[in-house]
Amino acid sequence: MAALHACKDFHACKWPGGLSNGDTSLSLYFDAINEKSLNVVKEIQGTCSQIITFSHFVPRQELCPEKRMLFYPKLPKIIGSDYLEVRIRSIHGIQGSGSACHVFGHTHFCWDAVLDGIRYVQAPLAYPRERKRRMNGGEDWLPFCIYSDGNFADRLSPCYWSDYYSANPRTPHNTELAPWVARFYNQT
Ligand SMILES: [Fe+2]
Repeated sequence: MAALHACKDFHACKWPGGLSNGDTSLSLYFDAINEKSLNVVKEIQGTCSQIITFSHFVPRQELCPEKRMLFYPKLPKIIGSDYLEVRIRSIHGIQGSGSACHVFGHTHFCWDAVLDGIRYVQAPLAYPRERKRRMNGGEDWLPFCIYSDGNFADRLSPCYWSDYYSANPRTPHNTELAPWVARFYNQT
């Protein structure tokens, strides 16, 4: 199924002229809105030793399971933006630091991992039906407190997918479907 048909965003959204779902114009447009806050960001950088940034969308491919693990394999095409990662690095520094944290969302995969010096966290409340089937183990989840009294929270746990990737490397050249995905497509 094409991403175009599976994802409501494509046909439920109408964009003004010059902006299109089919290229990077939308992500550039939304990224540029951040330029209006550059002075505030500079002030925060100058006065705060711990910074948390937020985005709804996913800044890096490594924050999503690999294609062969997904029931909807084109998911990585519609969940994030490279400009977002560049923007985040412009705030935290290219190298990140022990006190750089970015909170993201959108995919409903629980995640807590450090990549190139930035801690990336997603603690999704998810849809009620996802919680019911304990997607990510999160039946009784409450909002996750990432920062309190000058300290970042300990690692979020359980965090099935980022736990998996902290123990297993990504293998993008492996095209064999994960067993649960193979079972799903054999049924349909
Ligand atoms: Fe979303």
